[in-house]
Amino acid sequence: MSAEVTDFTRPVSARVWNYWLGGKDHYAADRRAGDEVARHVPGIAAAARADRRFLGRAVRLLVEDAGVRQFLDVGTGLPTADNTHEMAQRLAPDARIVYVDNDPLVLSHARALLTSTPEGATSYVDADARSPEAVLRAAARTLDFDRPVALMLLAIVHLITDDAEAARIVRTLVDALPSGSYLVLTHACLDVEATRTAMDVWNESGTPHPIRARGRAEIGTFFDGLDLLEPGVVTCPRWRPGPDGTDFPDEVMTFGGVARKP
Ligand SMILES: C[S@@+](CC[C@H](N)C(=O)[O-])C[C@H]1O[C@@H](n2cnc3c(N)ncnc32)[C@H](O)[C@@H]1O
Repeated sequence: MSAEVTDFTRPVSARVWNYWLGGKDHYAADRRAGDEVARHVPGIAAAARADRRFLGRAVRLLVEDAGVRQFLDVGTGLPTADNTHEMAQRLAPDARIVYVDNDPLVLSHARALLTSTPEGATSYVDADARSPEAVLRAAARTLDFDRPVALMLLAIVHLITDDAEAARIVRTLVDALPSGSYLVLTHACLDVEATRTAMDVWNESGTPHPIRARGRAEIGTFFDGLDLLEPGVVTCPRWRPGPDGTDFPDEVMTFGGVARKP
């Protein structure tokens, strides 16, 4: 269990993200930092929304076309509309979902996440992704690692600023998955000009959670050894756009991809 208690005085990732998404779980320090980033980078809230829509399209594809019934969602964030288990279980009531986050406020909201269909299962693990072995051990209480699992790493890997550590976390988690599993990953991308400004403003906000945006090619390396689904790693709105994506620009700074483990 994380010993950390909620700090209201500094902007933290989960709450500022919730602010940009139009949620209600944030404090003055989060709103100040969120507004400051948005003042320099007006597209930031759209990038957060586009990430969530990407999540929805990816879950639909995995459930409907790939038959995936298990999801490991690391860096869950505060509950919002259409959380992973709600989308997955709407399509497949027997879907099993494990959420993982290390933010104490996310933990305190976990009960809202733990609703599940009777046929499926939802559980929450209070753990740090930097200990992927512990994440896997806890997830194995709910998920069967002999059957395909979709590993969801949305807008979390850029919060791991050390490149080698980020690579090790993704690799350790992917290595534990059986063939036929999937990696779904989104990441702040430096190929969009405004990203560097957003990163700098955020990192100077007093947050304990600095970010490290990466280029598209570097983001692509997280998928090494996996079969990337078309169209590869692209800005979220351009990843298999559906009727859900009309209220943001064609390009946002969050890029994403989905890949299958052979
Ligand atoms: C920007 S939010 C993204 C939330 C959600 N995945 C989404 O895309 O909407 C990042 C989340 O990752 C969590 N997080 C950051 N670093 C983490 C770590 N080392 N271990 C577990 N969770 C972490 C934060 O607490 C936050 O809830």
